[in-house]
Amino acid sequence: MKRSLRTASLALLLAGLAGLAAWASEPDLVLADFEGKDYGEWQATGTAFGSGPARGALPGQMEVSGYLGQGLVNSFNGGDAATGALTSPEFRISRRYLTFLIGGGDYPGKTCLELLVDGKVVHSATGPNTQPGGSERLEPRSWDLRDLSGRSARLRIVDEATGGWGHINVDQIMLTDSKPPSFLTDAQREIGVKGRYLLLPVKTGAPKRRMSVLVDGQTVREFEIELADGAPDFEAFLDMEPFQGRQALLRVDRLPEGSAALEAVSQSDEVPGSERPYGEAHRPQFHFTSRRGWLNDPNGLVYSAGEWHLFYQHNPYGWDWGNMHWGHAVSRDLVHWKELPIALYPQRFNDWAFSGSAVLDGENTSGFGTGKEAPLVAAYTSTGRGECIVYSNDRGRTWAEFSGNPVVKHQGRDPRLLWHEETRQWVMAVYDEQGEKRFIAFYTSPDLKRWELGSRIEGFFECPELFELPVDGAGGERKWVLYAADGKYLLGRFDGKTFHPDGGKRQLWWGNFYASQTWSNAPKGRRVQIGWGQGITFPGMPFNQQMAFPVELRLETTDEGPRLLGEPVREVRKLHGKRHAWKELPVKEGESPFPELSGDLWEIRADWEVGAAKEFGFRVRGVPVTYDVERQELSCQGVTAPLKPVEGRVRMQILVDRGSVEVFGNGGRVALSVGAIPPEDQRGVEAFTRGGGCRLRSLEAWELDSAWK
Ligand code: FRU
Repeated sequence: MKRSLRTASLALLLAGLAGLAAWASEPDLVLADFEGKDYGEWQATGTAFGSGPARGALPGQMEVSGYLGQGLVNSFNGGDAATGALTSPEFRISRRYLTFLIGGGDYPGKTCLELLVDGKVVHSATGPNTQPGGSERLEPRSWDLRDLSGRSARLRIVDEATGGWGHINVDQIMLTDSKPPSFLTDAQREIGVKGRYLLLPVKTGAPKRRMSVLVDGQTVREFEIELADGAPDFEAFLDMEPFQGRQALLRVDRLPEGSAALEAVSQSDEVPGSERPYGEAHRPQFHFTSRRGWLNDPNGLVYSAGEWHLFYQHNPYGWDWGNMHWGHAVSRDLVHWKELPIALYPQRFNDWAFSGSAVLDGENTSGFGTGKEAPLVAAYTSTGRGECIVYSNDRGRTWAEFSGNPVVKHQGRDPRLLWHEETRQWVMAVYDEQGEKRFIAFYTSPDLKRWELGSRIEGFFECPELFELPVDGAGGERKWVLYAADGKYLLGRFDGKTFHPDGGKRQLWWGNFYASQTWSNAPKGRRVQIGWGQGITFPGMPFNQQMAFPVELRLETTDEGPRLLGEPVREVRKLHGKRHAWKELPVKEGESPFPELSGDLWEIRADWEVGAAKEFGFRVRGVPVTYDVERQELSCQGVTAPLKPVEGRVRMQILVDRGSVEVFGNGGRVALSVGAIPPEDQRGVEAFTRGGGCRLRSLEAWELDSAWK
């Protein structure tokens, strides 16, 4: 039987005891919870509402949250362009308040929920959004209906808007006598800035609020934050260095009455957790993570003046993606990192600093250089403007915007700058969309300021990367490597304007790996790559996501032709602690051939002789790393890469940290990045074989030190 909407079912929630004198407190009445397959007695017109409630987001929509149960009204059916209305049957106003959840567009009269009495609109509410970005979260709202007591009424949900945010989401409409919580709009607090940092209380999963910091009446920072109204999960920090000694006004667009969030904001000269930096239980000890908040793509990788710069996509104020800034860290050895202040702040709300790259402008072709040292020049995507150029004359610590920004305007993002020596010009490889088609476009420039389109190559998505390497070591024939965010690469020739591929796409990395980039200007012709360990999450921690361990890339002739190989940078040795080593170990089924090892962080190198085994490998802190002889596959926890033995042998190099296991097969012929939180109580390393014996020609295992100590 078809389940019709619970238009009049009583939800016997505890009636508010704070009963209001004039009203006898009656149990709450759910007018509609939109849990059924169709709208029941509600009448839909137009197409925007479809034939029944949605279950969360509709195709092409951002994640929708904040609704109750499974279903809700979501007028994104057919996208923003669709219009329509949804009208309730008549009901009697039999309680003091009407409460509901609402989200979507903020277009009064066009994306709204209306209360109609005698056919006239007496109350109306909209969602919160008009700008790109924003949030699909539904928020509780209510109307006080004291003066309409006993009247007949209808509800109408309207979607007459067709542009961005031209939809409305509604759920859980109730009549109640309990006073609903009320919200303050533009809640404020003034503070005299004396600490370097403002510490902001965050509760992951709480509704996102828009927070603004004003100094002298100007908005200097503005972002979304999951503010904790009560006890926080952690504190995010906001650098107030430029505003010392001034008065600042903190403003939050909407806070429940009684929220402690604004009062809980404090000031400090230290970042939170500085007593034990990077000391949390699941904090990776030799993979880069940000002290606080979210990270994704590596950006602006450039080597200069002895420093490897790592900029990265960063949400400083929350555990999830959002508010894109460029975070910044530097290293002298690719292993030990020092986090520096944020390098790029968004210029304004909804103009986020998306991915990009950096170069050293050695000959000061840009004229941005003002001192003795050559300037660093970076390109990034400003989501509000286009591809933008910034430059730094203080080793990447601070950046200035080029006055002619944006330098390229198109449908796309993620500019990759490089110097093309043969034609002596700059190149920007940038992700470019033409309708539904996805390209990498190549622009050229003499000075990093004026750019001209050279060509486009189809079939790539986000975060392009382009560089040249010799095959089989220095002096070998040179080939260009081109890939986008998924890392699947083409080899070929690049003439400064056009990429001419040699063959099809190939793959080096498998698993949690995305949006990788290589360092510009690296010393000694090195080509060092770092990727985002996409999807390696750290629940309950004040940070989220990690970078993969940096690898050195090379081109090598294999039996299948030239291929890109990658191995952990040799600097990993700097972390080597106690070494355990064996040679010529026979491995039998059911027993590990060497005495028990126990440790937290590991590097393991093994050279296996395949023998009669069907499978062999290691269990490292409970995580299996397996070679399947028949299938010729290397795998780790569901991530599998093809790998042929070479002269009957399979080599493995394994890095084990608190959030991941990385496996490199046959000298970097394949690389696996695997998110895994090794259990606290499993610290051992053991070898195994199945379906026959095999042999470990050599095995070395190093206990690794933390890079943060
Ligand atoms: C890839 C990406 C880029 C974009 C950035 C935003 O992960 O979507 O295309 O610039 O992330 O954070």
